[in-house]
Amino acid sequence: MSEASAKDHWEAVYTTRDEAGVSWFQDSPSPSFELIERLKPTRDTQVIDIGGGASRLVDALLERGFRHPTVLDISQAALDLACLRLGRRASLARWIVEDVREWEPSKRFDIWHDRAAFHFLVEASDRAAYVARLTRALKPGGHAIIATFAPDGPEKCSGLPVYRTDAKGLAQELGEAFTLVDTQAHDHVTPNHSSQRFQFSVFQRQ
Ligand SMILES: C[S@@+](CC[C@H](N)C(=O)[O-])C[C@H]1O[C@@H](n2cnc3c(N)ncnc32)[C@H](O)[C@@H]1O
Repeated sequence: MSEASAKDHWEAVYTTRDEAGVSWFQDSPSPSFELIERLKPTRDTQVIDIGGGASRLVDALLERGFRHPTVLDISQAALDLACLRLGRRASLARWIVEDVREWEPSKRFDIWHDRAAFHFLVEASDRAAYVARLTRALKPGGHAIIATFAPDGPEKCSGLPVYRTDAKGLAQELGEAFTLVDTQAHDHVTPNHSSQRFQFSVFQRQ
C-alpha cells in the first residue's frame, strides 16, 4: 500500500471511530506493559511505541514514571485522540506523525514497541524499510517488542490484509543483528467479543 493511501486509510479510521470502536482496542495494554517491565527499565529508559495510534500504552508508561515516552503513528488523528485523553499529561510524551517506512530517526531508543503495525507490511520491501528504521533507531543492546497476528490469527485487520507470522518468521525478517529473547502467544478479545490470536516476540539488538 502506498504511503498516501495508507495515510488516508488511517486518518479515516481515527476520524470516524471513537477510541473503543476499533477491533484492536484494549482498556489496559497487556501484555505489552508486562514485557516492557521484564526488561527492568529505569525511568530514563527511552521507549518508542511504533504505530501506537490511540493506544493507552503511553498512559501506562507515564503513570509508571517514564520520562518522555515517544509515540509514532502515520495518523495525526490517532495521536490527537491520545493527546485529548491525556490532557495536560500529553506534553510529557513526544509525538511523531510519520510513516515508519519513510521515517528518518534523529535519536536512538532503548525499547521499540510495536503492537499490530508491522503486520500491515505485506510487501517484503516495506518490511525491509521497517527493519532498516528499527536498526537505526534502536541502541545496541536495546530491545524490540513486536506483536503481530499469529499464523492462525485473522487474515485482515482494519479491513486490510496482514502479514501473519511467528517468532521464527520475525527473526528471519529482522536478520542476524537481532536475537530472539522471549515470545508468547496472546489472545486479544475485541470489543465485539471475538478472539484474535497474536504473537508477542522480544528481540535484542546485538
Ligand atoms: C491496528 S492499529 C494498532 C494501534 C496500537 N498499536 C494499539 O495496539 O492499539 C495499527 C496502527 O498502526 C498505524 N500504522 C499503520 N501503518 C503505519 C505506518 N506505515 N507507519 C506508522 N504507523 C502506521 C495505524 O495508524 C494504527 O494506529
